[in-house]
Amino acid sequence: MKDCLICKTPIEPFMSFGKMPLGNGFLLPSEFEQEYFYEMLVGFCPVCNMVQLLEQPDRERMFHENYAFFSGTSSFMAKHFALFAQDVIQDYLTGSTDPFVVEMGSNDGIMLQNFAQAGIRHLGVEPSRNVAEVAIARGIRTVTEFFSADLASKIVAENGQADAFLAANVMCHIPYLHSIAEGIKVLLKPNGVLMFEDPYLGDVVEKTSYDQIYDEHTFLFSVTSIGYLFAQYGMEIVDVVPQHTHGGSMRYIISHKGARPVSERVHAQRQKEIAMGLNRPETFDQFRQSCETSRGQLKQLLEGLKAEGKRVVGYGATSKSTTVINYCGITPDLVEFISDTTPIKQGKYSPGAHIPVMGYEKFTENYPEYALLFAWNHKDEIMAKESAFIQSGGRWIVYVPAVGIV
Ligand code: SAH
Ligand code: TYD
Repeated sequence: MKDCLICKTPIEPFMSFGKMPLGNGFLLPSEFEQEYFYEMLVGFCPVCNMVQLLEQPDRERMFHENYAFFSGTSSFMAKHFALFAQDVIQDYLTGSTDPFVVEMGSNDGIMLQNFAQAGIRHLGVEPSRNVAEVAIARGIRTVTEFFSADLASKIVAENGQADAFLAANVMCHIPYLHSIAEGIKVLLKPNGVLMFEDPYLGDVVEKTSYDQIYDEHTFLFSVTSIGYLFAQYGMEIVDVVPQHTHGGSMRYIISHKGARPVSERVHAQRQKEIAMGLNRPETFDQFRQSCETSRGQLKQLLEGLKAEGKRVVGYGATSKSTTVINYCGITPDLVEFISDTTPIKQGKYSPGAHIPVMGYEKFTENYPEYALLFAWNHKDEIMAKESAFIQSGGRWIVYVPAVGIV
């Protein structure tokens, strides 16, 4: 039993993925012996409906000066954040003289660059020094710290309150969400908005995309659980907008209670969540069974290909793939190497299973028969550029929403 991180109700795990290494913990052979593992237990809170990890590594183990994820590796995501920024500017900043925007988890500046280019006052809060330095070198104002209630007060003292507080794929990374919500409340102007997006629980359950669960993803959010959290701070969801990013995400638009009209979409999405059973423990028992089925099918497919002597290479050393590889027991004899365009990952080995990670040229110079699409959330972008692989006779192996060869 652990206490829910949001409402403190004692909760039990509905599933264990077993011992897991860090999702982004790509490592060298000299580090194999000291590799860190924790038990990845997932629970559902019957009171506030938050799905969450019950055990997690310390934040400094995950976010530091050698953080492996650079947002700029996907050109599709760069376009997505340009559109996100455009929405913020048009819908929420036009009425303000000298507007101020804060982003938490700004990484290499993929979103804030759009505000910097438009000459809008901005501040990124990004604790992983190596990625923050990329943003700083591009002229994006960034502090290398973890966002918290204390930091929010400092930001207000130095800059005044913010018109918009933005966060993408980071809110769900933070177990101490109460400090974050408290900080946002202090930081936002009376008519300011909080806009954030994260992978959506509804998509994960619907697609059995269990690889969204790993150390950095403390939570899988729904409109219901997010509404519960922010209500405790006198804030409310005023709109929700589903997104295609990361295999299905939700954008939440939140303001101080009563500051803005609440869209009908919020109520409709809550009703949809009830219809999907996202408020019932049985749904997560069913989810666990679907994960087990998916695991069995993927392992069987890879073992079958190995028996036929086929070459299989992984495409995209995503943090998500750490869950799939270790949960399914995928070993270097089943997947020869993983191709990835991120320099900091290349020449290292995947967490746990120790599959080599190689530069993209290793993939193109000698195409395998099968590529296992670990970066399935970037499928359209990847398929569009990999026509030569298909022409060479190559095929894709996918596992979301179902295991198969496409
Ligand atoms: N927003 C980017 C990056 C997401 S990765 C994108 O969507 O592509 C999550 C980022 O959040 C990492 O760069 C990590 O260092 C940062 N992060 C983690 N905890 C944080 C905290 N408490 N405050 C601010 N940033 C944090
Ligand atoms: P991503 O799916 O965005 O994130 P996460 O680590 O959160 O699961 O990571 C994409 C990874 O795939 C990243 O390491 C870069 C790599 N990649 C490629 O190698 N080629 C590509 O064409 C794309 C889009 C990504």
